[in-house]
Amino acid sequence: MAEQCILECRNVSKHYGALVAVDDIDLRIQSGETVGIGGPNGAGKTTFFDLISGLTAVSGGQVLFNGDPIIGVPPHQLFHMGLARTFQVTDGFGSLSVEQNILASLVYGGGKERPGILLGKRHRMRAAEIMEEYHLSHLAQAMVSDIPALDRKKLMVATAVMHDPKVLLLDEPVGGLTPPEIDAFIELMADVRKKGISIVFIEHVMRFLTTVADRALIMHQGRLIYDGTPQGIASDETVKSVYLGSSADQMVGGAA
Ligand SMILES: Nc1ncnc2c1ncn2[C@@H]1O[C@H](COP(=O)(O)OP(=O)(O)OP(=O)(O)O)[C@@H](O)[C@H]1O
Ligand SMILES: [Mg+2]
Repeated sequence: MAEQCILECRNVSKHYGALVAVDDIDLRIQSGETVGIGGPNGAGKTTFFDLISGLTAVSGGQVLFNGDPIIGVPPHQLFHMGLARTFQVTDGFGSLSVEQNILASLVYGGGKERPGILLGKRHRMRAAEIMEEYHLSHLAQAMVSDIPALDRKKLMVATAVMHDPKVLLLDEPVGGLTPPEIDAFIELMADVRKKGISIVFIEHVMRFLTTVADRALIMHQGRLIYDGTPQGIASDETVKSVYLGSSADQMVGGAA
């Protein structure tokens, strides 16, 4: 079967004055791929996601989602089209309960229902199913601001995935988690992959990147300097030179 390109970036750039945050990126992501993006702080990784997900206007280039140009399409519309993302700073409605967060995403995230609708039994039953799937049922009535970081991250993934996106962008999904929590998140990623969702994630934790991704990209100064197997990162001379001082071998060895 021919491979299907689900996400394509053509010469995508972002300039902030003299600073080139994203520099002429060309990239094709195939349907079903799981791609991990690494690179030093300030490399342009989050800005790249902001361009793809419509949060920031490009300075140049085009992005195609499932073959259609999407530059200029607002983020909520992209979400309704099947392009979902999570954020580097764990997000959620802190003063609402876990169940209320799920219900809000369920009702308004699909793009079909309108404000003012009444929450029905079907909404609550679906919310219960989602909380069970993400091991959040015991926290249903807890305020999101009070729950542990791992659970807030799981909630963020749940709200992004519940409307069955074609592509899921995750910005540092395991940042700040402990090694056992990262293991739990690796399992969660396996479940999300089984749904057939194409995943592109940014991550500094190399153990997560090499375990979860089947393809790795490294960004540096707005450019892609590596595109290959996760295992090949450690021996790549360009990557090593970028991480001079913190050996690429150690990096891939997985400081969690
Ligand atoms: N709104 C903005 N205005 C000006 N400069 C910006 C803006 N947003 C990002 N930048 C700059 O663009 C560069 C890339 O930032 P970005 O946040 O994309 O990096 P990153 O690779 O995600 O880094 P990290 O790993 O620390 O999250 C940085 O130099 C940053 O200061
Ligand atoms: Mg970032």
